[in-house]
Amino acid sequence: MKGNPADLRVQRDESLEEALRPSSLDAFVGQSRIKERLAVLVEAARRRREPLPHLLFSGPPGLGKTTLAHILAKEIGANLRLTSGPALERAADLAGLLSGLEAGDILFVDEIHRLSRTVEEYLYPAMEDFRIDIVIDQGPAARSVCLSLPRFSLFGATTRAGMLTAPLRGRFGLVNRVEYYGAEELVEVVRRSARILGVETAESGAWEIARRSRGTPRLANNLIRWVRDYAVVRAGGEEISEAVVHRALEMLDIDADGLDEMDKKLLETIIYKFEGGPVGLSTLAVAVGEDAGTIEEVHEPYLILEGFLQRTPQGRIATERAYQKLGLRPGHRGSQSELF
Ligand SMILES: Nc1ncnc2c1ncn2[C@@H]1O[C@H](COP(=O)(O)OP(=O)(O)O)[C@@H](O)[C@H]1O
Ligand SMILES: [Mg+2]
Repeated sequence: MKGNPADLRVQRDESLEEALRPSSLDAFVGQSRIKERLAVLVEAARRRREPLPHLLFSGPPGLGKTTLAHILAKEIGANLRLTSGPALERAADLAGLLSGLEAGDILFVDEIHRLSRTVEEYLYPAMEDFRIDIVIDQGPAARSVCLSLPRFSLFGATTRAGMLTAPLRGRFGLVNRVEYYGAEELVEVVRRSARILGVETAESGAWEIARRSRGTPRLANNLIRWVRDYAVVRAGGEEISEAVVHRALEMLDIDADGLDEMDKKLLETIIYKFEGGPVGLSTLAVAVGEDAGTIEEVHEPYLILEGFLQRTPQGRIATERAYQKLGLRPGHRGSQSELF
Protein backbone atom coordinates (compact mmCIF):
# COMPACT_ATOMS: atom_id res chain seq x y z
CA MET A 1 0.00 0.00 0.00
CA LYS A 2 2.05 2.79 -1.35
CA GLY A 3 2.06 6.13 0.43
CA ASN A 4 -1.69 6.21 0.90
CA PRO A 5 -2.69 7.98 4.12
CA ALA A 6 -5.12 5.15 4.73
CA ASP A 7 -2.03 3.04 5.34
CA LEU A 8 -3.24 3.48 8.88
CA ARG A 9 -5.34 0.48 7.97
CA VAL A 10 -2.42 -1.87 8.08
CA GLN A 11 0.13 0.27 9.84
CA ARG A 12 1.37 -1.19 13.08
CA ASP A 13 3.01 0.68 15.87
CA GLU A 14 4.44 -1.95 18.17
CA SER A 15 4.75 0.30 21.23
CA LEU A 16 1.20 1.56 20.83
CA GLU A 17 -0.11 -1.96 20.40
CA GLU A 18 1.79 -3.03 23.47
CA ALA A 19 0.22 -0.30 25.59
CA LEU A 20 -3.31 -0.92 24.34
CA ARG A 21 -3.23 -4.69 24.20
CA PRO A 22 -5.62 -6.20 26.77
CA SER A 23 -3.77 -8.60 29.07
CA SER A 24 -6.62 -10.79 30.31
CA LEU A 25 -9.60 -12.55 28.79
CA ASP A 26 -11.85 -10.26 30.84
CA ALA A 27 -10.31 -7.14 29.31
CA PHE A 28 -10.53 -8.61 25.81
CA VAL A 29 -13.64 -7.11 24.22
CA GLY A 30 -16.10 -9.26 22.24
CA GLN A 31 -15.45 -12.67 20.62
CA SER A 32 -17.47 -14.19 23.47
CA ARG A 33 -17.74 -17.68 21.93
CA ILE A 34 -13.98 -17.93 21.56
CA LYS A 35 -13.34 -16.53 25.03
CA GLU A 36 -15.70 -19.06 26.61
CA ARG A 37 -13.96 -21.94 24.91
CA LEU A 38 -10.51 -20.69 25.75
CA ALA A 39 -11.48 -20.18 29.38
CA VAL A 40 -12.50 -23.87 29.54
CA LEU A 41 -9.21 -24.95 27.98
CA VAL A 42 -7.18 -22.81 30.37
CA GLU A 43 -9.04 -24.15 33.39
CA ALA A 44 -8.69 -27.78 32.24
CA ALA A 45 -5.00 -27.38 31.50
CA ARG A 46 -4.44 -25.80 34.91
CA ARG A 47 -6.23 -28.59 36.72
CA ARG A 48 -4.42 -31.31 34.86
CA ARG A 49 -1.17 -29.39 34.98
CA GLU A 50 -0.79 -30.00 31.29
CA PRO A 51 0.06 -27.68 28.42
CA LEU A 52 -2.74 -26.22 26.34
CA PRO A 53 -3.64 -28.08 23.15
CA HIS A 54 -2.34 -26.79 19.81
CA LEU A 55 -4.58 -23.92 18.76
CA LEU A 56 -5.21 -22.21 15.46
CA PHE A 57 -6.43 -18.60 15.23
CA SER A 58 -7.76 -17.46 11.91
CA GLY A 59 -9.33 -14.27 10.59
CA PRO A 60 -8.52 -10.89 9.06
CA PRO A 61 -5.63 -8.76 10.38
CA GLY A 62 -6.04 -6.64 13.51
CA LEU A 63 -8.85 -8.62 15.17
CA GLY A 64 -6.90 -9.94 18.15
CA LYS A 65 -5.22 -13.22 17.19
CA THR A 66 -1.80 -12.31 18.57
CA THR A 67 -3.42 -10.66 21.57
CA LEU A 68 -5.28 -13.87 22.44
CA ALA A 69 -2.03 -15.82 22.28
CA HIS A 70 -0.37 -13.39 24.72
CA ILE A 71 -3.38 -13.58 27.04
CA LEU A 72 -3.41 -17.39 27.08
CA ALA A 73 0.31 -17.54 27.81
CA LYS A 74 -0.18 -15.17 30.71
CA GLU A 75 -3.22 -16.98 32.11
CA ILE A 76 -1.43 -20.30 32.07
CA GLY A 77 1.91 -18.89 33.18
CA ALA A 78 3.80 -20.14 30.13
CA ASN A 79 6.52 -18.58 28.01
CA LEU A 80 5.42 -17.39 24.59
CA ARG A 81 7.95 -17.67 21.78
CA LEU A 82 7.04 -15.73 18.68
CA THR A 83 7.97 -16.57 15.12
CA SER A 84 6.31 -16.56 11.72
CA GLY A 85 5.90 -18.80 8.70
CA PRO A 86 8.20 -16.75 6.44
CA ALA A 87 10.89 -16.53 9.15
CA LEU A 88 11.21 -20.31 9.30
CA GLU A 89 13.01 -20.82 6.04
CA ARG A 90 14.69 -24.11 6.77
CA ALA A 91 13.79 -27.09 8.92
CA ALA A 92 16.90 -26.26 10.97
CA ASP A 93 15.36 -22.89 11.96
CA LEU A 94 12.37 -24.70 13.36
CA ALA A 95 14.52 -27.39 15.01
CA GLY A 96 16.48 -24.66 16.78
CA LEU A 97 13.34 -23.08 18.17
CA LEU A 98 11.72 -26.35 19.18
CA SER A 99 14.74 -27.73 20.95
CA GLY A 100 14.97 -24.55 23.03
CA LEU A 101 11.44 -24.90 24.41
CA GLU A 102 10.64 -25.75 27.99
CA ALA A 103 7.71 -27.90 29.08
CA GLY A 104 4.45 -25.98 28.72
CA ASP A 105 5.92 -23.24 26.50
CA ILE A 106 3.86 -21.87 23.66
CA LEU A 107 5.36 -21.50 20.21
CA PHE A 108 3.38 -18.92 18.25
CA VAL A 109 3.75 -19.16 14.49
CA ASP A 110 2.22 -16.12 12.81
CA GLU A 111 1.19 -16.37 9.14
CA ILE A 112 1.43 -20.11 9.47
CA HIS A 113 -0.06 -20.56 5.99
CA ARG A 114 3.26 -19.28 4.64
CA LEU A 115 5.35 -22.13 6.06
CA SER A 116 7.26 -23.96 3.37
CA ARG A 117 6.16 -27.49 2.66
CA THR A 118 9.39 -28.97 4.04
CA VAL A 119 9.21 -27.05 7.29
CA GLU A 120 5.53 -27.87 7.62
CA GLU A 121 6.15 -31.59 7.30
CA TYR A 122 8.94 -31.30 9.82
CA LEU A 123 6.42 -29.84 12.23
CA TYR A 124 4.01 -32.79 12.09
CA PRO A 125 5.89 -35.25 14.38
CA ALA A 126 6.75 -32.36 16.70
CA MET A 127 3.07 -31.52 17.12
CA GLU A 128 1.88 -35.08 17.28
CA ASP A 129 4.53 -37.05 19.15
CA PHE A 130 6.76 -34.27 20.51
CA ARG A 131 9.80 -35.48 18.66
CA ILE A 132 11.92 -34.28 15.76
CA ASP A 133 14.70 -35.78 13.71
CA ILE A 134 17.87 -33.77 13.59
CA VAL A 135 20.92 -34.34 11.48
CA ILE A 136 24.23 -34.33 13.30
CA ASP A 137 27.71 -34.28 11.86
CA GLN A 138 28.48 -33.58 8.23
CA GLY A 139 29.61 -35.47 5.17
CA PRO A 140 29.87 -39.27 5.37
CA ALA A 141 29.48 -39.21 9.16
CA ALA A 142 26.15 -37.40 8.97
CA ARG A 143 23.32 -39.24 10.59
CA SER A 144 19.92 -38.37 11.86
CA VAL A 145 18.92 -38.81 15.47
CA CYS A 146 15.55 -38.56 17.04
CA LEU A 147 15.23 -35.85 19.65
CA SER A 148 12.32 -35.86 22.02
CA LEU A 149 10.81 -32.51 22.91
CA PRO A 150 9.13 -31.26 26.05
CA ARG A 151 5.34 -31.07 25.76
CA PHE A 152 4.65 -27.67 24.27
CA SER A 153 1.70 -25.97 22.61
CA LEU A 154 1.82 -24.73 19.07
CA PHE A 155 -0.34 -21.70 18.32
CA GLY A 156 -0.78 -20.85 14.66
CA ALA A 157 -2.28 -17.62 13.35
CA THR A 158 -3.44 -17.08 9.81
CA THR A 159 -5.34 -14.57 7.74
CA ARG A 160 -5.89 -17.29 5.14
CA ALA A 161 -7.31 -20.39 6.79
CA GLY A 162 -8.21 -21.69 3.34
CA MET A 163 -4.55 -21.86 2.40
CA LEU A 164 -3.67 -24.27 5.20
CA THR A 165 -3.15 -27.86 4.14
CA ALA A 166 -5.59 -30.40 5.55
CA PRO A 167 -2.88 -32.34 7.46
CA LEU A 168 -1.68 -29.21 9.24
CA ARG A 169 -5.16 -27.99 10.02
CA GLY A 170 -6.08 -31.42 11.34
CA ARG A 171 -3.27 -31.32 13.88
CA PHE A 172 -4.79 -28.43 15.77
CA GLY A 173 -7.01 -29.29 18.71
CA LEU A 174 -9.22 -26.28 18.11
CA VAL A 175 -9.71 -23.69 15.40
CA ASN A 176 -10.73 -20.21 16.56
CA ARG A 177 -12.14 -17.97 13.90
CA VAL A 178 -12.05 -14.36 15.04
CA GLU A 179 -14.82 -12.25 13.53
CA TYR A 180 -15.15 -8.57 12.73
CA TYR A 181 -16.39 -6.60 15.75
CA GLY A 182 -19.81 -4.98 15.98
CA ALA A 183 -20.10 -1.21 16.53
CA GLU A 184 -20.96 -1.64 20.21
CA GLU A 185 -17.89 -3.75 20.83
CA LEU A 186 -15.72 -1.30 18.96
CA VAL A 187 -17.06 1.58 21.04
CA GLU A 188 -15.90 -0.36 24.07
CA VAL A 189 -12.46 -0.75 22.48
CA VAL A 190 -12.39 2.98 21.69
CA ARG A 191 -13.43 4.00 25.22
CA ARG A 192 -10.86 1.68 26.74
CA SER A 193 -8.04 2.92 24.53
CA ALA A 194 -9.05 6.57 25.00
CA ARG A 195 -8.86 6.01 28.76
CA ILE A 196 -5.41 4.46 28.53
CA LEU A 197 -4.15 7.22 26.22
CA GLY A 198 -5.78 9.90 28.38
CA VAL A 199 -7.83 11.33 25.51
CA GLU A 200 -11.08 13.15 26.32
CA THR A 201 -13.63 11.60 24.00
CA ALA A 202 -17.31 12.50 23.76
CA GLU A 203 -19.75 9.59 23.40
CA SER A 204 -20.63 10.77 19.91
CA GLY A 205 -16.95 10.92 18.98
CA ALA A 206 -16.32 7.40 20.25
CA TRP A 207 -19.25 6.08 18.23
CA GLU A 208 -18.09 7.87 15.13
CA ILE A 209 -14.62 6.33 15.40
CA ALA A 210 -16.16 2.91 16.04
CA ARG A 211 -18.40 3.16 12.98
CA ARG A 212 -15.47 3.94 10.76
CA SER A 213 -13.11 1.27 12.07
CA ARG A 214 -14.42 -1.42 9.75
CA GLY A 215 -14.91 -3.90 12.55
CA THR A 216 -11.20 -3.88 13.45
CA PRO A 217 -9.79 -3.00 16.90
CA ARG A 218 -6.32 -2.29 15.52
CA LEU A 219 -7.80 0.25 13.14
CA ALA A 220 -9.94 1.76 15.91
CA ASN A 221 -6.76 2.27 17.94
CA ASN A 222 -4.91 3.79 14.99
CA LEU A 223 -7.82 6.14 14.31
CA ILE A 224 -8.00 7.31 17.92
CA ARG A 225 -4.35 8.16 17.82
CA TRP A 226 -4.76 10.04 14.57
CA VAL A 227 -7.83 11.91 15.82
CA ARG A 228 -6.01 12.79 19.02
CA ASP A 229 -3.11 14.29 17.04
CA TYR A 230 -5.54 16.10 14.76
CA ALA A 231 -7.42 17.52 17.75
CA VAL A 232 -4.22 18.88 19.26
CA VAL A 233 -2.88 20.44 16.06
CA ARG A 234 -6.03 21.51 14.23
CA ALA A 235 -8.80 21.69 16.80
CA GLY A 236 -7.07 23.53 19.65
CA GLY A 237 -6.99 20.40 21.80
CA GLU A 238 -10.77 20.36 22.15
CA GLU A 239 -12.65 17.25 23.27
CA ILE A 240 -13.00 14.63 20.57
CA SER A 241 -16.54 15.14 19.31
CA GLU A 242 -18.30 13.68 16.31
CA ALA A 243 -17.45 16.82 14.33
CA VAL A 244 -13.75 16.58 15.16
CA VAL A 245 -13.72 12.91 14.12
CA HIS A 246 -15.44 13.85 10.84
CA ARG A 247 -12.83 16.44 9.98
CA ALA A 248 -9.92 14.30 11.13
CA LEU A 249 -10.98 11.28 9.11
CA GLU A 250 -11.76 13.33 6.06
CA MET A 251 -8.04 14.05 5.91
CA LEU A 252 -7.42 10.30 5.71
CA ASP A 253 -10.04 9.78 3.00
CA ILE A 254 -11.94 7.41 5.23
CA ASP A 255 -15.64 7.77 4.55
CA ALA A 256 -18.77 7.32 6.68
CA ASP A 257 -18.83 3.56 6.05
CA GLY A 258 -15.17 3.24 7.01
CA LEU A 259 -14.16 2.64 3.39
CA ASP A 260 -10.81 4.05 2.29
CA GLU A 261 -9.46 5.09 -1.09
CA MET A 262 -8.51 1.58 -2.12
CA ASP A 263 -11.89 0.13 -1.12
CA LYS A 264 -13.62 2.75 -3.23
CA LYS A 265 -11.21 2.30 -6.09
CA LEU A 266 -11.95 -1.42 -6.10
CA LEU A 267 -15.69 -0.85 -6.32
CA GLU A 268 -15.30 1.87 -8.96
CA THR A 269 -13.02 -0.32 -11.03
CA ILE A 270 -15.39 -3.29 -10.96
CA ILE A 271 -18.31 -1.09 -11.95
CA TYR A 272 -16.71 1.23 -14.49
CA LYS A 273 -14.05 -0.97 -16.01
CA PHE A 274 -15.65 -4.39 -15.79
CA GLU A 275 -19.33 -3.54 -16.00
CA GLY A 276 -19.99 -4.62 -12.45
CA GLY A 277 -18.16 -7.93 -12.80
CA PRO A 278 -17.55 -10.77 -12.54
CA VAL A 279 -13.86 -10.02 -12.70
CA GLY A 280 -11.04 -12.28 -11.52
CA LEU A 281 -8.88 -11.26 -8.56
CA SER A 282 -5.59 -11.07 -10.47
CA THR A 283 -7.12 -8.92 -13.21
CA LEU A 284 -8.64 -6.64 -10.59
CA ALA A 285 -5.31 -6.42 -8.76
CA VAL A 286 -3.53 -5.24 -11.89
CA ALA A 287 -6.31 -2.76 -12.68
CA VAL A 288 -6.12 -1.05 -9.28
CA GLY A 289 -2.37 -1.46 -8.85
CA GLU A 290 -2.54 -3.34 -5.57
CA ASP A 291 -1.20 -6.69 -4.48
CA ALA A 292 -3.77 -9.49 -4.91
CA GLY A 293 -3.04 -10.88 -1.44
CA THR A 294 -3.67 -7.51 0.20
CA ILE A 295 -6.94 -7.12 -1.69
CA GLU A 296 -8.03 -10.58 -0.64
CA GLU A 297 -6.97 -10.37 3.02
CA VAL A 298 -7.47 -6.73 3.89
CA HIS A 299 -10.04 -5.14 1.60
CA GLU A 300 -12.39 -7.84 0.39
CA PRO A 301 -13.49 -9.44 3.64
CA TYR A 302 -14.94 -6.16 4.89
CA LEU A 303 -16.47 -5.18 1.55
CA ILE A 304 -18.14 -8.60 1.47
CA LEU A 305 -19.30 -8.38 5.08
CA GLU A 306 -20.85 -4.98 4.43
CA GLY A 307 -22.50 -6.21 1.25
CA PHE A 308 -20.60 -4.12 -1.29
CA LEU A 309 -18.98 -7.04 -3.02
CA GLN A 310 -19.63 -10.69 -3.78
CA ARG A 311 -17.17 -13.44 -4.49
CA THR A 312 -18.38 -15.94 -7.06
CA PRO A 313 -16.60 -18.79 -8.85
CA GLN A 314 -16.51 -16.51 -11.94
CA GLY A 315 -14.95 -13.61 -10.04
CA ARG A 316 -15.84 -10.51 -8.04
CA ILE A 317 -19.18 -8.77 -8.52
CA ALA A 318 -20.26 -5.32 -7.35
CA THR A 319 -23.58 -5.44 -5.48
CA GLU A 320 -26.50 -3.06 -5.56
CA ARG A 321 -25.14 -1.41 -2.44
CA ALA A 322 -21.89 -0.67 -4.25
CA TYR A 323 -23.80 1.11 -7.03
CA GLN A 324 -25.76 3.11 -4.44
CA LYS A 325 -22.53 4.01 -2.70
CA LEU A 326 -21.21 5.53 -5.92
CA GLY A 327 -24.53 7.24 -6.53
CA LEU A 328 -25.39 5.06 -9.53
CA ARG A 329 -28.39 3.02 -10.51
CA PRO A 330 -27.76 -0.75 -10.38
CA GLY A 331 -26.91 -2.08 -13.79
CA HIS A 332 -25.28 1.21 -14.77
CA ARG A 333 -23.04 0.41 -17.69
CA GLY A 334 -19.87 2.25 -17.06
CA SER A 335 -17.27 3.20 -19.57
CA GLN A 336 -13.58 3.36 -18.93
CA SER A 337 -13.42 7.04 -19.77
CA GLU A 338 -15.54 7.87 -16.75
CA LEU A 339 -12.81 6.64 -14.47
CA PHE A 340 -9.50 6.87 -16.21
N1 LIG B 1 -10.83 -7.86 21.63
C1 LIG B 1 -10.02 -6.80 21.77
N2 LIG B 1 -10.24 -5.91 22.76
C2 LIG B 1 -9.44 -4.82 22.87
N3 LIG B 1 -8.41 -4.54 22.04
C3 LIG B 1 -8.16 -5.40 21.04
C4 LIG B 1 -8.94 -6.56 20.86
N4 LIG B 1 -8.46 -7.25 19.80
C5 LIG B 1 -7.44 -6.53 19.33
N5 LIG B 1 -7.24 -5.42 20.08
C6 LIG B 1 -6.25 -4.38 19.83
O1 LIG B 1 -5.89 -4.42 18.47
C7 LIG B 1 -4.48 -4.60 18.33
C8 LIG B 1 -4.23 -5.62 17.24
O2 LIG B 1 -4.56 -6.90 17.66
P1 LIG B 1 -3.68 -8.18 17.26
O3 LIG B 1 -3.91 -9.21 18.30
O4 LIG B 1 -2.28 -7.78 17.02
O5 LIG B 1 -4.38 -8.60 15.88
P2 LIG B 1 -4.03 -9.79 14.89
O6 LIG B 1 -2.93 -10.60 15.51
O7 LIG B 1 -5.31 -10.54 14.72
O8 LIG B 1 -3.61 -9.13 13.60
C9 LIG B 1 -3.98 -5.05 19.70
O9 LIG B 1 -2.76 -4.48 20.04
C10 LIG B 1 -5.02 -4.56 20.67
O10 LIG B 1 -4.66 -3.31 21.17
MG1 LIG C 1 -0.99 -10.73 14.75
